Amino acid sequence: MTTQIIQIDSSNPCKDQLRPAVVVLRSGGLVAFPTETVYGLGANALDAEAVAGIFKAKGRPANNPLIVHVPDVDAARELAAEWPDAAERLAQRFWPGPLSLVVSKKSCVPKIVTAGGNTVALRVPSGAIARALLTAANVPIAAPSANRSNRISPTRAEHVLRSLDGRIDLLLDGGPTSGGLESTVLDVSRKPARLLRPGLLTREQLQDALGEEVLFDNSHTDDRSKSEASIMPSPGLLSRHYAPTVPMECIPDAAKSRVRELCFDGSRVGWLAWNEELPEVLPGAIVIRMPLDPASYSAELYAAMYRMESSGVDRIVVTLPPESPEWLAVHDRLRRASAK
Ligand code: TXA
Ligand code: MG
Repeated sequence: MTTQIIQIDSSNPCKDQLRPAVVVLRSGGLVAFPTETVYGLGANALDAEAVAGIFKAKGRPANNPLIVHVPDVDAARELAAEWPDAAERLAQRFWPGPLSLVVSKKSCVPKIVTAGGNTVALRVPSGAIARALLTAANVPIAAPSANRSNRISPTRAEHVLRSLDGRIDLLLDGGPTSGGLESTVLDVSRKPARLLRPGLLTREQLQDALGEEVLFDNSHTDDRSKSEASIMPSPGLLSRHYAPTVPMECIPDAAKSRVRELCFDGSRVGWLAWNEELPEVLPGAIVIRMPLDPASYSAELYAAMYRMESSGVDRIVVTLPPESPEWLAVHDRLRRASAK
């Protein structure tokens, strides 16, 4: 299969440019498209065969459920068997935006979408291309990140092509995504709500909107025996995920001396530096100075990892940003990417 690529203006996507993508989606094919978080690999969520194509193209295990994208809250309610107060409140506050809500599903949502489970993750994206595509296609779109399973999520069209060229029908190239990390996934099918994946919306923002505590259990993610059991609370919480192809290590401070040591041992090192003075001479090192604030850092992180991979370094060293709550999602992704 040849993957067709269509350049599209992310601030003002026009209908004509979207038409081929609509045709592909409505005939059961696969379209990669940008959202405000990362690029998604979309199929008609109500077409079980089309959704099977997503699992095949990604090499995704069948027990990992997909997020279904819809144009608005009404469309979300149509797919939910129950729509709890918490869902309504958060949807009103944060949609369109980088929040996926897990609720009980209606029977019209094919089992393959939810990996056989009774809940479905729903999200109204805010990216203009994603919104225009949902409106034009007029079907809910199931879309995981547009990468082969266990690889880093794509934030640029070229990242999508690296792993899916020739495996999908069409790619809408809308340039870099603005958010850079995947959506926050929150299970509101149970009370209290449970944060399954930290993301661009913070736990604090969710708690403020709900007026109650949101549970977040970080501990089980490092417990392989539990997280690989057949019933997974969220398989995206597997400890190693979002990983670059070269080993990566994260260092809270003194990353500079670690980089130096590796360089002098003859390694080619890629260093994602953060808020530190760079040494004048580092033979064999490629250095990217990461942005100082969490939002810009998030937007750049995956692109920096992809750049390091393709520059042929043997090892990536990351200076860890602070431990404060607004860095939770960044820490989460860095920890997974560096897990052994
Ligand atoms: O920002 C995003 O969320 C992007 C864009 C394309 O929307 N999508 C994305 O999808 O990151 P994916 O498939 O790479 O990650 C979805 C995560 C996985 O960790 C999956 O296990 C979890 O959401 N998930 C999906 N449905 C679920 C459900 N019913 N219950 C629990 N977790 C679920
Ligand atoms: Mg993914």
